[in-house]
Order: sequence, then C-alpha cells, then structure tokens
Amino acid sequence: MRAVDLIERKRDGGELAPDEIRWLLGEYVAGRVPDYQMAAFLMAVYFRGMSELETVALTEVMAESGDRIDLSAIPGVKVDKHSTGGVGDTVTLILVPLMAAAGLVCAKLSGRALGHTGGTIDKFEAIPGVRTELSLPEIRAQAARIGAVIADHTAEVVPADRLLYELRDVTGTVPSLPLIASSVLSKKLAGGADAIVLDVKCGDGAFMRREEDARRLAETLVRVGNRLGKKFSALITAMDQPLGRMAGNALEVKQAIEVLRGEGPEDLREVTLALGAELLVLAGEASDPDEAQARLVKLIASGAAWRRFRELVSAQGGDVRAVEEPERLPRAAQVVEVASPASGYVEKLRAHEIGVAAGLLGAGREVKGAKVDPAAGVELVHKVGDEVEAGAPLARLHVGRPDRADEACRLVAAAYTIGSIRPRPSPLVLGRIA
Ligand code: URA
Repeated sequence: MRAVDLIERKRDGGELAPDEIRWLLGEYVAGRVPDYQMAAFLMAVYFRGMSELETVALTEVMAESGDRIDLSAIPGVKVDKHSTGGVGDTVTLILVPLMAAAGLVCAKLSGRALGHTGGTIDKFEAIPGVRTELSLPEIRAQAARIGAVIADHTAEVVPADRLLYELRDVTGTVPSLPLIASSVLSKKLAGGADAIVLDVKCGDGAFMRREEDARRLAETLVRVGNRLGKKFSALITAMDQPLGRMAGNALEVKQAIEVLRGEGPEDLREVTLALGAELLVLAGEASDPDEAQARLVKLIASGAAWRRFRELVSAQGGDVRAVEEPERLPRAAQVVEVASPASGYVEKLRAHEIGVAAGLLGAGREVKGAKVDPAAGVELVHKVGDEVEAGAPLARLHVGRPDRADEACRLVAAAYTIGSIRPRPSPLVLGRIA
C-alpha cells in the first residue's frame, strides 16, 4: 500500500476500507508516513468527510493504537465527560472533583488547547507544580485513592490521537465531523469509564457553528459510541459567547475555583450541573436529572466538591495554597482594557474572536509543542445582555505576548456588538441525545 494512493482516493471522494485506514494510521504512528502526507490526508477528509463505516474503523484503529486504562478493579461506577471544545469551557476542572465527591470515579484524560479553544491540560498546569503526565499505574492508583484524576493523554494511551490532534491544530483540519468523532470516541473507548457524557458545543466559538451540524455530530458520537460498547449520551450546549467570564489558563482556573466554592458565573455553573446530572442518571445513581442536580448542588454547598478539588491538586503535585488563595496563581505583568465604543447593551459577544485573542496573547500555541503562557488571556467584564456606558471597560487583556497585544485588542473590540435593545436570554442547553 502507498499513502499517496489513499490520499488521492480520499481527495477524489472515494471510501477507504478498514484495513487501509488501519495501515495508514499504523504507518503514521510508527513514523513511516510523514506529517506532510498525513496533513494532506486530513485535509482531504476535511473536504470529503467519511462514511460511518470509515469513522468506526478510524475510531477503533485509534483506540487500539495504545494501551487501555483498566479501572475495573476499582469499586464504584466509572464516569467520564468530554467537550468538543469551546471558549471559557472550564467545566472539567469542576466536574471531575464534583463526580468524585458524589462517590463516582472520574479518571479523565484531557487535551491541550486546540485551534481557538482552550484545553484542560494547559489550564490545570497553570496551577504551579501540577503534573499531568501520569503513567497508567499512577492514574489507576490515584483513581482508587481519591476518585479523581486529570491526566494528559499519555504516550501509551491513544498515541494516534495525540499525534493527529497536534497536526490538526496547526493545519486547519480541526472542524471535521469524522475527525472530531474519532478523536473523542477513541479516547473514551481507551479510557476506563462505563458511562460517558459528551458536551457538544454549538455556535460561533465551537467547531460546529450551526445547530444542525452540532446535532449531527452529537448523534454520530452517541450512535457510534454505543455501537462500540459503552453508555454514551450527549448534551448540545450553546457556545455563541464564551462560558463564564474568562478565557485563558490561570484565569479559567480561578473561575472554576469560584464555582467549586459556590460562587462564579451562572452560565458555567448551569452547564456543569446539567452535564453532571446527565452523568449521574446515565451511571444509574439518580432516577432523573432534577434529583441528580439537587444532589450536586448540595455537594457544592457543603464544600465536599471543593475539598475533593484540593485533594486532586495535591495528588498531582500542585501547590494547594495557590488554589486556596488564587491571587497566587500566575498573573500577567501587563493588563490592558478594551473600552466600549458606545453606550447601550451588549447584543453579541463572539466567542471565536475571544478564543483567538486569548491564543494571541499567549494562552494558545501557533506551532506544535510550543509553550503556553499560563497567565495570558481575556477577562470579560461584560457579556451579552449587560448594559454598558461608552468608555467603560468591556474586557481586560492579560498580556503574555506584548507584540500581539494590539491585534488581540482589535479582535476583542470586534467581538462585541453594542446596540440599543437588550437581547433576550437564550437557552444554554439546546438539546439532549441519549
Ligand atoms: N476534542 C477532541 O478531543 N478532539 C477533537 O478533535 C475536537 C475536540
């Protein structure tokens, strides 16, 4: 077999057989197919798509590219969640300890920033000392001890996704339904969870901008996921404006801490509770989402989830004082305000621009393997529906790269539309696929 023949077939809209997909990916992971050929293949998939059979084959081959995490010896239901990526989406940092506080086991493998979206691993590592490169025995031991783990995809688990993810990030091939589906599902198959909730983001700041595309992705994920033998359900949630008021690594850690302490922005809390309730029901731990939410609310109010978060940070080598006193988290040397050009109401706040601006300021990466600045990002002083005065701050830029601050400033200013009519609040949870 030759990579170029498979690339050409996909480029021309043909279908690949499972053994061809297996060969191509195997050769790539082994280093015998170079990045440039895989990038060309990914671009062909981006334009041509994949059949469900191809998507299932790609998912299985990716899941089998490394070890699986076996948590079966640990008592309790094992749960997991995954977001298709958004801006300000710091749900995982809240949900993992919350699930552990509810008596479930959540050993989550997470990713780094991708495209304009943030990544949980970059966020968690913004806490000084936190180590996310855990070995499989370390993941298992920590899951057994405290029920909560947030680890980087190890080189041993789904190495194919790790390689493809980095390549897609810098080749414009992220927003492809089969590539997102196989990336998400392969990791969930290789993880040790029995019940998995997927947060399929929809809107300006998501890879799926239109609701019908998000719904198609959610349906594909749940159908292919269930076909591959685990319990999946998905919520479609709004990502027109960022979740919460922060986009950036340490900034989002601060926001997660607020929610764990019973405060924080209502939208972030609502999405977290909706996903958590879905998981409790899917895991058979609650009979309906209302009962599940009431339980989760109590676990936050009692401080149980917050205690579990501190245990999680400490277990992974993090400085617990930095989360108890978040002013100790990394802080940018320069903070620049973006002022409102007019008085009125915030009618729109485009998440995509905010995500790109946060990346430019240093929160994301432009080339594979680059370091992110934990302190960089965008703080949103005003969000959709807020009344603002001309000249008042709309947002604050936490600058990690001064050479990019002007460009980021322009983007953030362009992300806001100020008008004379207060927009009506729109729903955060747009649909559920079970
Ligand atoms: N999240 C993933 O894990 N993979 C993608 O491709 C997109 C979002």
